[in-house]
Amino acid sequence: MAVRMVVRSLALAALMLAACMVLARATNPGFVARITEKGLDYARQEGIAALEKKLAKLKLPDFSGSFKVKPFGNVHYEFYSLDLRSFQLPSSQIVPVPNVGLRVSVSKAFAHLTGKWKVKKRFIKDHGSFDLKVEGISISIGLKLGSDASGRPTVTTSECSTQISNVRIHISGRFGWLYKLFHKKIESSFRKTMESKVCEEVTSSVSTQLQPYLQTLPVTTKIDNVAGIDYSLGEFFSLAHRLPAPFPPPALAFPTEHDRMVYLGASSYFFNTAGFVYQTAGVLVFNITDDMVPKGVEFHLNTSTFSAFIPKLEKLYPDRLMKLQVMTSSAPSLTITPGGLSLMPVVDIQAYAILSNSSLAPLFLLSLTSNISATVAVNSSRIGGTLALGRLKLSLKHSDVGPFSVQLLQSLMNIYGSKILLPRLNERLKAGFPLPLPDRIKLSSILLQPHQNFLLLAADVHYG
Ligand SMILES: *[C@@H]1O[C@H](CO)[C@@H](O)[C@H](O)[C@H]1NC(C)=O
Ligand SMILES: *[C@@H]1O[C@H](CO)[C@@H](O)[C@H](O)[C@H]1NC(C)=O
Ligand SMILES: *[C@@H]1O[C@H](CO)[C@@H](O)[C@H](O)[C@H]1NC(C)=O
Ligand SMILES: *[C@@H]1O[C@H](CO)[C@@H](O)[C@H](O)[C@H]1NC(C)=O
Ligand SMILES: *[C@@H]1O[C@H](CO)[C@@H](O)[C@H](O)[C@H]1NC(C)=O
Repeated sequence: MAVRMVVRSLALAALMLAACMVLARATNPGFVARITEKGLDYARQEGIAALEKKLAKLKLPDFSGSFKVKPFGNVHYEFYSLDLRSFQLPSSQIVPVPNVGLRVSVSKAFAHLTGKWKVKKRFIKDHGSFDLKVEGISISIGLKLGSDASGRPTVTTSECSTQISNVRIHISGRFGWLYKLFHKKIESSFRKTMESKVCEEVTSSVSTQLQPYLQTLPVTTKIDNVAGIDYSLGEFFSLAHRLPAPFPPPALAFPTEHDRMVYLGASSYFFNTAGFVYQTAGVLVFNITDDMVPKGVEFHLNTSTFSAFIPKLEKLYPDRLMKLQVMTSSAPSLTITPGGLSLMPVVDIQAYAILSNSSLAPLFLLSLTSNISATVAVNSSRIGGTLALGRLKLSLKHSDVGPFSVQLLQSLMNIYGSKILLPRLNERLKAGFPLPLPDRIKLSSILLQPHQNFLLLAADVHYG
C-alpha cells in the first residue's frame, strides 16, 4: 500500500504528459493526445496527497555536537529518536514546461517533529524532550520527461530545491535553558538536514518508483499472432515483418474542448494500418461451410439450393455441399466523418462444390461490396466496435458453371453475410483492442465522438 501511495506522487501528471509526449513523437501520428488543466489539477491533488504521506515518513538522522557555554566550557549534546509527526503541503502548483516536462512547486508547507535530547559535561548529565516546528517550507521540483530508445517514457529529476524559512525548537527538561543559549545553531542544523533530506527523498522516489511506473505505459502491444500496436506512432504493425503503411496519416484538427481530463484522437490512419497489416498477412480470408448455417436458416449451402439460381449446377454437381471462400481483395479502409464511421470493403467470394473425395470444384467467383457502418465503443480499458451491414452489391467475375444472374443471389448472400460472417467478425471486434493505459489507470466519463478523419476519445482519469 505504502509503495503504491508513493508511486502516486506526481505519477499521474508525469504520466499523462509523458503519454502525450510519447504519442506526439511523430509529426502526424495516428494518435494525438492532450491533457487539460482539469487533468493536471487532478494529478496535482493526487500527487501532492501522496507526497505528503511520503514525506511524513522521512527518517531524520540523530545528530550531535558540542557547544561552548560560558562558564562551563564545551557541552556535548545529542538529539535522537527524531519523530516526524506530520508534514503538510497545503499549497501547491503544477505546470507543464514545454518540451521538458513538469514543474511542481510546493509552498507554505510545514512540519512538526518531536524527539529527545541529552547533554553531557562531566558532572552535568541531563536529558529531556523537544518539540520542533518547521514552517514556510518551499519545495521546487523539475521533472524531465523523455523517452528511451524503445520509445518508452522516462522521467528524471532535473532539479530539486527545498527552502525552509522558519524553524522553532521548544526544549523541555531541567537543563532546557542550556539549549536556549545555542538554539540558533541547532535550528540551522535541523534546517540544513531537512532541506537535503526532502530533495533526497523526492529524487529517490522519482528514480525508483515513478520511473518504473511510467514504464508500465505500454508502447507496443501484441494483439494476436499477426499484429501488434505501436502506440507511440498510433499504428498497427506486422509481427512478422514491419512495413511502412502505403498511405500517410492525415493531419488532425484537434478540438480545444477541455471539460474532460484527457483527450485522445485516434486517426483513420490507426484503423487503416490494421486493415493493411491483416490484408498483407493474407489472413482476411474466411470460409463459410454448411455447418455454420445457423438453425432456422432454410438455405443450406449446397448445390440444390443454388441450382434454383444456377440451372446447370444440379446436373454438374448434384447433391453436393458447397464452400464459400470470402477474402478481401484490397485492405479495407475506414472512413471517419462527423456523421459516423463507415467502410466499403471489396470482397471476392469463390464458391466451390465439395466432391465426394473432399476435393473442391470451383464454381464461380463473385465480387461483392457493401457499405458497412461501424460503431465504436470504449469501456474503461478497451476499445472495440461492431459493424452493421448495408446493401450488398454483387458482380460476377468468373463462372465455371455457365452464365447466371447474380442479382438473384443477392438475398442469399445477404443471409450468409449477416447470419454467418458478421456475427463472427463482430465477436472479434467486440473483444477490441487494449487502450494504451499504464497499471491501475482507469477511465471514466468516457465520450466518443467522430470528427473528420479521427475518432475523439475524451475521458476523466482515475488512479486506483
Ligand atoms: C479456406 O479454404 C481454403 C480452400 O479450401 C483453404 O485453403 C484455406 O486454408 C481455408 N482457410 C481457412 C482460414 O480455413
Ligand atoms: C441442401 O439444402 C436443402 C435446403 O436448402 C436441403 O433440403 C437439402 O437436404 C440439402 N442437401 C444436402 C445434400 O445437404
Ligand atoms: C476427386 O474426384 C474428382 C472427380 O471425381 C477427380 O477429378 C479428382 O482428381 C479427385 N481428386 C483426388 C485428389 O483424388
Ligand atoms: C455509407 O453509409 C453511410 C452511413 O450509413 C452514409 O453516410 C454514406 O453516404 C454511405 N456511402 C455510400 C457510398 O453509400
Ligand atoms: C471491457 O470490454 C472488454 C471486451 O468487451 C471486456 O472483456 C472487459 O471485461 C471490459 N472491461 C470492463 C472493465 O468492463
